[in-house]
Amino acid sequence: MQIYQDRLEYLQAQPTTWLVTGVAGFIGSNLLETLLHLGQRVVGLDNFATGYQFNLTEVEERVTPEAWQQFRFIEGDIRDLSTCREACTGVDYVLHQAALGSVPRSIEDPITTNECNITGFLNMLVAARDARVRRMVYAASSSTYGDFPGLPKVEEQIGNPLSPYAVTKLVNELYADVFDRAYGFATIGLRYFNIFGQRQDPDGAYAAVIPKWFAGLLQNETVFINGDGETSRDFCFIDNCVQANILAATAGEEVAGQVYNVAFGERTTLNELFLLIRERVANRAPSVATAEPVYRDFRAGDVRHSLADIGKARRLLGYTPEFSIQSGLDKAADWYMDKLLGP
Ligand SMILES: NC(=O)c1ccc[n+]([C@@H]2O[C@H](COP(=O)([O-])OP(=O)(O)OC[C@H]3O[C@@H](n4cnc5c(N)ncnc54)[C@H](O)[C@@H]3O)[C@@H](O)[C@H]2O)c1
Repeated sequence: MQIYQDRLEYLQAQPTTWLVTGVAGFIGSNLLETLLHLGQRVVGLDNFATGYQFNLTEVEERVTPEAWQQFRFIEGDIRDLSTCREACTGVDYVLHQAALGSVPRSIEDPITTNECNITGFLNMLVAARDARVRRMVYAASSSTYGDFPGLPKVEEQIGNPLSPYAVTKLVNELYADVFDRAYGFATIGLRYFNIFGQRQDPDGAYAAVIPKWFAGLLQNETVFINGDGETSRDFCFIDNCVQANILAATAGEEVAGQVYNVAFGERTTLNELFLLIRERVANRAPSVATAEPVYRDFRAGDVRHSLADIGKARRLLGYTPEFSIQSGLDKAADWYMDKLLGP
């Protein structure tokens, strides 16, 4: 934690300008909140495809009016190069989060996923390179490990992608690598593993499992488990992800031009996850204590097990995840219950 604390103090003493793409989404709005708390200037870019004005409004309510004054929002699309160029103007650090997430969405609509996640990514690379930003950090994904069976996942060993979404995230890494070789523009890719926490969208067909289950249990709806429940993931609380982004943006040149796993480094099955979430919801809604999930078919494109080796991020970035799945779920539970049941 000391390296992170030092970096935060340095930024507070010398505020800089950040671009957060996907700023109205889950991860982007959390990055925005932390950066504004640190007194940074932030440009945000989003087209509201899967992000919301109410995420921005919530950040506004959680920071001081002076901090909010330091935020400039551009409603726009990364598929448009001139918008990316406008957003990158005068920026020191880019945290590129904008993309269409979700494996099933990409299976249903590979073309739009490709346009946003590959063309949009390439536009951002070109715009950030030409604007001579100090560093671009981008959201890569654990889906890049594809069908590689070994656990834990280490950065150097990947398999074949299992979905169009995974292809787009792999192509991002390939482009980033080529921009380093061809133009000397070294970025950092963060392979996120199942990030969760406040402001992750519980609604819609493509919602992630943790918000979907919080909302389902709180609203007395059936909670489904795809498969036998022994599918496992390395769930990582959002504050750990924010830490990784800030460390990566401000790290030395010698560790750039690479990708890093961002996770907690522990594996939790869906059956275990269900019990952890049910226990927390039952604290506020006791009738939930006996709720049981309904099992249904495995979902196409999903990998069976996922667990990260976070040694590289620890060694080279100073990444020290502060929140375990349990402590992260405590915080997430408070947020979902306040949102859905009222404080
Ligand atoms: N949440 C996770 O567990 C996870 C895991 C691996 C990778 N990621 C990646 O992290 C990033 C952020 O994910 P998130 O969970 O916050 O998702 P999110 O859907 O909440 O946020 C994505 C944001 O990008 C915006 N966006 C999408 N297409 C755009 C476009 N063409 N132009 C401008 N804005 C656009 C959306 O409106 C949204 O606000 C994505 O790149 C995602 O692929 C997330």
